[in-house]
Amino acid sequence: MRFMIGVLKPRNEIIGEVLSGIIEQIGSRIERFKVGDRVYGLTGFSLGAYADYKCMNEKDSKKGCLAIKPGNISFEEATAAAYGGLLAFQFLEKGNIQPHQKVLIYGASSTSGIIAVQLAKHLGAEVTAVCSTKHIEFVKSIGADKVVDYTRQGSLSQLETYDVILDSVGKARTSDLKEAAKKSLSKEGKYLSIDDGPLILSSDRLARIKELIEQNKIKPINDSCYSFDQIVDAHKYAELGHKRGNVAITVNTET
Ligand SMILES: NC(=O)c1ccc[n+]([C@@H]2O[C@H](COP(=O)([O-])OP(=O)(O)OC[C@H]3O[C@@H](n4cnc5c(N)ncnc54)[C@H](OP(=O)(O)O)[C@@H]3O)[C@@H](O)[C@H]2O)c1
Repeated sequence: MRFMIGVLKPRNEIIGEVLSGIIEQIGSRIERFKVGDRVYGLTGFSLGAYADYKCMNEKDSKKGCLAIKPGNISFEEATAAAYGGLLAFQFLEKGNIQPHQKVLIYGASSTSGIIAVQLAKHLGAEVTAVCSTKHIEFVKSIGADKVVDYTRQGSLSQLETYDVILDSVGKARTSDLKEAAKKSLSKEGKYLSIDDGPLILSSDRLARIKELIEQNKIKPINDSCYSFDQIVDAHKYAELGHKRGNVAITVNTET
């Protein structure tokens, strides 16, 4: 990551990788967007989302992807949809979930976990969500059929045999339950992690996420929204690692 973003410091001094806003200006050969379109996406390694303006290519590349945002959610919620949605869709697609399969989402209260629970339910799976005690009621409210609390002693006995397991908190975070879950796969079962490869910046995937959000099949969730002046507090809070969903920064309230 350092090699791509900058070895000693970020190449772009304005950081921020996820954004949602309104197209202000377009080049003469732009085909997919017009002025006034409400969009969401990722900047990739070009960063620079923490700003009033960001110049993007309309074509997907390592420098970002952009699509029309879902019409029924706020700009702040759209950032949770872009980041959590791309992660959850990319890695769950590898699971090829079939109706009635048993799916376990580890870290169901993370930005991608929240979307993964809802996507697996939409695909007809029986979903077991793993989270800590304080998020149990929340993950039930987004559709989890069963919940296992990774902080509770004795929870390992609640594990069943799963067709697909998605680790949606990444490899750096683990628990006894996560390690035990890896041995709870069916014969053809698949264990997937959101850290199994780079995030693909795909506007086609953003378009599919938009459809499911507008059909009310998926709802992206923000833990909290901070103003631009509070950006340091927002980062400190996110870095504690216990947020429920996404933390958004409102840069420009005029949008
Ligand atoms: N492949 C890629 O290119 C790519 C790109 C971006 C991010 N990522 C991955 O995504 C991660 C960031 O995810 P995020 O922004 O959604 O949020 P996050 O801040 O990493 O996760 C927050 C959630 O995880 C839960 N959690 C924390 N420790 C846990 C544990 N040991 N077991 C189970 N749940 C735990 C927290 O709830 P509780 O504390 O209440 O349990 C909280 O709801 C990164 O660390 C990276 O691994 C991958």
